[in-house]
Amino acid sequence: MKKALAMILALMMVLSLAACNNSGTKESTPGGENTGTVETQKPDDNQSGGPVANKDKPLVWFNRQPSNSSTGELDMDAMNFNKDTYYVGFDANQGAELQGQMILDYITANIDKIDRNGDGVIGYVLAIGDIGHNDSIARTRGVRKALDTAVEDGGAIKSDPVGMNADGSATAVKDGKLTIGGKEYTVRELASQEMKNSAGATWDAATAGNTITTWVSTFGDQIDIVASNNDGMGMAMFNAWSNENKVPTFGYDANSDAVEAIANGYGGTISQHADVQAYLTLRVLRNALDGVDIDTGIGTPDDAGNVLSDDVYKYVADQRSYYALNVAVTADNYKDFLDATVPYAPVSNQLSQDSHPTKSVWLNIYNAADNFLSATYQPLLQNYDDILNLNVEYIGGDGQTEANITNRLGNPSQYDAFAINMVKTDNSASYTSLLNS
Ligand code: BGC
Repeated sequence: MKKALAMILALMMVLSLAACNNSGTKESTPGGENTGTVETQKPDDNQSGGPVANKDKPLVWFNRQPSNSSTGELDMDAMNFNKDTYYVGFDANQGAELQGQMILDYITANIDKIDRNGDGVIGYVLAIGDIGHNDSIARTRGVRKALDTAVEDGGAIKSDPVGMNADGSATAVKDGKLTIGGKEYTVRELASQEMKNSAGATWDAATAGNTITTWVSTFGDQIDIVASNNDGMGMAMFNAWSNENKVPTFGYDANSDAVEAIANGYGGTISQHADVQAYLTLRVLRNALDGVDIDTGIGTPDDAGNVLSDDVYKYVADQRSYYALNVAVTADNYKDFLDATVPYAPVSNQLSQDSHPTKSVWLNIYNAADNFLSATYQPLLQNYDDILNLNVEYIGGDGQTEANITNRLGNPSQYDAFAINMVKTDNSASYTSLLNS
């Protein structure tokens, strides 16, 4: 009898322990690794138990800001899709100014050897990413402004490609004048082109690698500087020609391979603080899912001590946009930037499962072949998704059509939140219509 009583007591203890465990670790991970004993919350249940409509789920646009690709005007309908919608990117104008200044500083410091054929004209070529992308437009303008080749139209610097401009007669740019060490130099944009491949993908590195060969066959040693709207295209041109010919080449993004190439003569690049952007991309979703103030873990420390200082980002409330700030990476400081995929230390503390239970996120990268997004941004997102307890499904697009991506959002109800990187910045409705239906 005594033995039977002891056994019943032991059984009761085991059962009550198991019950404690269950209540501590609720998870909602559709397609994730739920362990058999964990109580699972349905993905579309909100905290009070009812289903959350897809149109009310947190949504973040990132990298390609919803905007009119001809005028640049922000698409505020997309940014106000619901109360938990934001954009995360970086300050395109501040970065563009930095890129222009970095090139100008290089010219000034190397003026005695920059003009390779000694004709008194500093010639540069420019690889343009996407003529309808605000970031690309800003960078083209930044280079032209700093090198005095800019032409204004209605108060804005023209950003159109010039094609070939051997004699300086192009109308989108003018021959610039720089006075360095008391001497005046002419600067000419010899050529520029949008690097779009035949299938329509923009920012195309392979196209840039081929184009530099064409440019060199026309201009030869008139080319003193190679500038690019990003490192993917910049490195393609560096590898195809400028490395061997010792022509300084400047890009943007601070991808690890470009930073490493600075040791071998790549002129410099700009870090758009992808480590901060990738964090913000997932953090705004985390905060909305937790139902806490949006500034948590951003301007205000969270319960794990994560916080950003205002020298690395800014929030523009009326645009519902977070913008990371840029830093120039040159021969002076490149050693601090060699690994572009490391989480930013002040926001790398693990969140607890108890207060921040796992949620599921659908996220797309517009072009799986984009150097910056695949080599820098996505690896960072993958580090932060663990830290923030988000189970993210990554979808890689073909860089050409929205449908290639939206076709893979067949059942939005499976997810708690969405992170979207459009192919074309005009196309927000291709996504919001799926969430509205
Ligand atoms: C990056 C580019 C990239 C583009 C994709 C930009 O911010 O600098 O390298 O191709 O985003 O949208």
